[in-house]
Amino acid sequence: MYDPLPPGPRAPGLLQALRWSTRALPFMERCQRRFGDLFTLRNFRGDPIVFVHHPEGIREVMTADAESLRVSNLLLEPALGSNSLLLLNGARHRRERRLMSPPFHGQRMRLYAGLIHEVTKRALERATAGGRRELGLHPVFRDVSLDVILRAVLGVPDARLAEAAEILREATDSFTTPLVFIPPLQRDLGPASPGRRFQRARRRVRTFLEGQIEARREATGEHHDILSLLIAARDEHGEAMTTEEIRDELMTLTVAGHETTATALAWAVHWVHRAPGVLPRLRAELDALGPEPDPEAYARAPYLAAVCDETMRRMPVVPNVGRYAKRSFTLMGRRLPPGTAIAPCIYLTHLRPDIYPEPREFRPERFLERSFSPFEYLPFGGGARRCLGAAFALFEMRIALGVLLRRYHVETLDARTVPVRRTIVHAPRRETPARVRARA
Ligand code: HEM
Repeated sequence: MYDPLPPGPRAPGLLQALRWSTRALPFMERCQRRFGDLFTLRNFRGDPIVFVHHPEGIREVMTADAESLRVSNLLLEPALGSNSLLLLNGARHRRERRLMSPPFHGQRMRLYAGLIHEVTKRALERATAGGRRELGLHPVFRDVSLDVILRAVLGVPDARLAEAAEILREATDSFTTPLVFIPPLQRDLGPASPGRRFQRARRRVRTFLEGQIEARREATGEHHDILSLLIAARDEHGEAMTTEEIRDELMTLTVAGHETTATALAWAVHWVHRAPGVLPRLRAELDALGPEPDPEAYARAPYLAAVCDETMRRMPVVPNVGRYAKRSFTLMGRRLPPGTAIAPCIYLTHLRPDIYPEPREFRPERFLERSFSPFEYLPFGGGARRCLGAAFALFEMRIALGVLLRRYHVETLDARTVPVRRTIVHAPRRETPARVRARA
């Protein structure tokens, strides 16, 4: 009564999972060439995962109701907490998402333009202080995105920023080592174990976040950070979010919003300096904004926007998302049994020549020439679970990239394109080493 699973490589699950963990993108591309629109890979336990990249299949998954398809991000639970939006399904997901959406509406982004501009300028000045010319741009972007999140989301004041950044950096690092995604290794197995580091970092960050929530609940006066909006939010029954719910959501916003945006920025610098003709056109647009552009002018510049869009097409930092069928699910005419894991593959959709001619070319103009449907272009996922921070991330990318290239000459020092996997994101192999010099 069910159809057979789509074809896939014959290699044992363990081998497939190893290839998937170490060389995920070339491996998926080979499968796409060999098996077409749908194929099945195996995880470490040998369980099948059906990969889909045809826009019609993507549409079916992204528009499915929550009773048919659920998220399968359970590996993230120990790090983010069980109340994280990324882990919730059905009615709870809808409630929490409604409560969390207002702070992320497009029009609120204008509030953050000055902040992003200032933080980027300062981070670049710090990184190049004392005439330093060679630096890793990815760590600079990581500092920028963390600083922006800490201020915009948590409202951390200047005096406590360094301490907060250190706590959050330790947590993100300990949560994103691959070992921690093997549940037994999350336990404290002694002083040198990753589990000890993980548990300690989690305790520390939870205490810090709960302290922030308490302090904000007691504070008087006006605050514009996202935490204040979450505290004030009420659902349709007039109920507020609990401290644990807010804590897990703050953790989610910090982890989901910081490394992703920094990595997308690192890829943007990489591609802008590799693809012929892109940098001169971008520079001309940025220079035309005048000597001291208004931060929002960066966010409105059309070619800069197209460069950011094309960056996330060519190298989406989250190359696929995960769902599983709660009841039988028909995917591109194939009836799959309950329990089937399904992976809409953003990376492969973005490389389809029937949507993007010469898909390996980095050509921002394609975004000025036509628009793409949400099932053809989906760096932020789609449907009811589309990234909550998409507008925020795009705004930050445009301003931070604009400030860097408006103020500095950049020469990238590593041309390799195949990324490394850092648990959820696929990042440039090294830290985007570059030689930078202030422009006159
Ligand atoms: C370039 C940067 C980013 C990329 C590529 C990205 C990508 C994604 C993707 C693909 C999803 C969908 C996951 C799924 O379907 O299971 C997602 C969800 C989410 N993202 Fe982002 N993200 C970025 C930045 C941000 C930022 C800045 C924030 C917040 C400050 C954020 C918060 C979230 C949240 C809360 C969800 C869960 C939404 C839900 O399940 O309803 N992300 N993101």
